[in-house]
Amino acid sequence: MTLDDIHQFVDELEKAGELKRITTQVDSDLEIAEILRRTMYTNGPALLFENVKDYDMPVLGNAFGSLKRLEIGLETSDFTEIGQRIVDMTKMEVPSGVLNKIKKLPELAKMGDVFPKLEKDGPVTEIVDDSPSFDKIPILKTWPKDAGRFITFGFVVTKHPETGVRNLGVYRMQILDSKHALMHWQKHKRGAHHHDITKEKGEKIEAAIVIGGDPATIFSAVAPVPEGLDKFVFAGITRKKGIKTVKCKTIDLEVPANAEIVLEGYVDPFDVRDEGPFGDHTGYYTPKEPYPTFTLTGMMQRKKPIYLTTIVGKPILEDAYIGKVIERSFLPLIRMFQPEVVDFSMPPSGWFQGLAIISIKKRYPGQARKVMMGLWGLGQLSLTKIFVVVDDDVNVHDINDVIWAITTRADATRDVMIIDKTPTDTLDPASPLLNLGSKLGIDATQKTKVEGFEREIQEQVKVDDTTKSLVDSKWSGYGI
Ligand SMILES: Cc1cc2nc3c(=O)[nH]c(=O)nc-3n(C[C@H](O)[C@H](O)[C@H](O)COP(=O)(O)O)c2cc1C
Repeated sequence: MTLDDIHQFVDELEKAGELKRITTQVDSDLEIAEILRRTMYTNGPALLFENVKDYDMPVLGNAFGSLKRLEIGLETSDFTEIGQRIVDMTKMEVPSGVLNKIKKLPELAKMGDVFPKLEKDGPVTEIVDDSPSFDKIPILKTWPKDAGRFITFGFVVTKHPETGVRNLGVYRMQILDSKHALMHWQKHKRGAHHHDITKEKGEKIEAAIVIGGDPATIFSAVAPVPEGLDKFVFAGITRKKGIKTVKCKTIDLEVPANAEIVLEGYVDPFDVRDEGPFGDHTGYYTPKEPYPTFTLTGMMQRKKPIYLTTIVGKPILEDAYIGKVIERSFLPLIRMFQPEVVDFSMPPSGWFQGLAIISIKKRYPGQARKVMMGLWGLGQLSLTKIFVVVDDDVNVHDINDVIWAITTRADATRDVMIIDKTPTDTLDPASPLLNLGSKLGIDATQKTKVEGFEREIQEQVKVDDTTKSLVDSKWSGYGI
């Protein structure tokens, strides 16, 4: 069975003992957020709040807050397979060069049943509201010093103004009043790019904020999908079945037909206001920064929608698990560009853009630096602040193994690379300027003579086979 919407996902989570219904009355102002935080920090279940003060719409949180729930949602326990499907598609034809492969992706995707299918109507068109308002939705205030209520898990649909390639991106939105919000698409993200193109033409950009949908589509909105690949198609690749779409009523965009709520409108690049502060993924309040204003022009919803939300803060919270699945599913794509990469890890405590550890099968001098430079030029990986490259005998998921490699194979002067004035994640609280700072690369691979390591490489300690077999055979008798 392919999950089609949040209601089916809730059913599956409940069957698996992964969801709790909360019937006590709760407030969308701070209370739900604190309950969710405590639950997430203790690896608790998804929570469906059925009795939200002043609203008759239930609120769902922590739905993706464990690998098990992501396995249920994405219907696979091997997340690497998602990226592998894209790599396999590029092998169906033989376009030479990476760029051609990427250009061919949408075309190749047609080969499977992964393309979206436009329908006349769908569950989300059950109610077409002629008096749209953010006030009808139990949007949370999550931290005491937040500037207000924020939509945190809506995915924003835009279309590339020139190519028409559709995008989905989870960008938070600060509610200003019943019809206006601020669109926090960070400079490097695709939605912001679409906005910049229309801004150059002196135009506004149409955007739809989608609440809920099938789990694979929601995942796709967070995933850093290769440029040029339509995220509706990526969602189809992820769930192995094309999504159904419907047309918006007040703007020229298609949205998932199985969504819970769709908020239609436009973003005006010339109406820019201060967004924030907001308690962010880093564990700090991101201070006020200017972002453009979204104006609500239309609203569609199911008769009984669920408001899907999440909260962020000091790791490790729900977003950490989504990030882990992105890390696993994108490994095959990373290997497509840097074939020597064996494994890859972005520890969630480093809020993903902070630190990545990469293991490689090293064949030539300087290869670790080559991999780092390649990855710093690749999509959202370009925002990663610190790269550590290790040999393939090191487990990138074991921080002790990584520290051992850094402290035994790297020399500070020889193996550290600092590059200044590079793009940084907008949220980085330490970068000297917004969106601009430096990178740190640590080459913790074993150095060779050609890399200037003149000493003998010391032999790693290892037990001999005779002693090992002896102790193995007597182990149970030692009484340990
Ligand atoms: C809960 C959550 C909230 C997020 N909020 C934002 C945000 O406010 N702004 C932003 O640019 N990215 C945000 N992101 C990250 C983007 O969704 C992510 O970088 C995605 O790949 C962007 O898609 P794009 O490449 O199509 O722009 C958020 C991610 C999650 C999981």
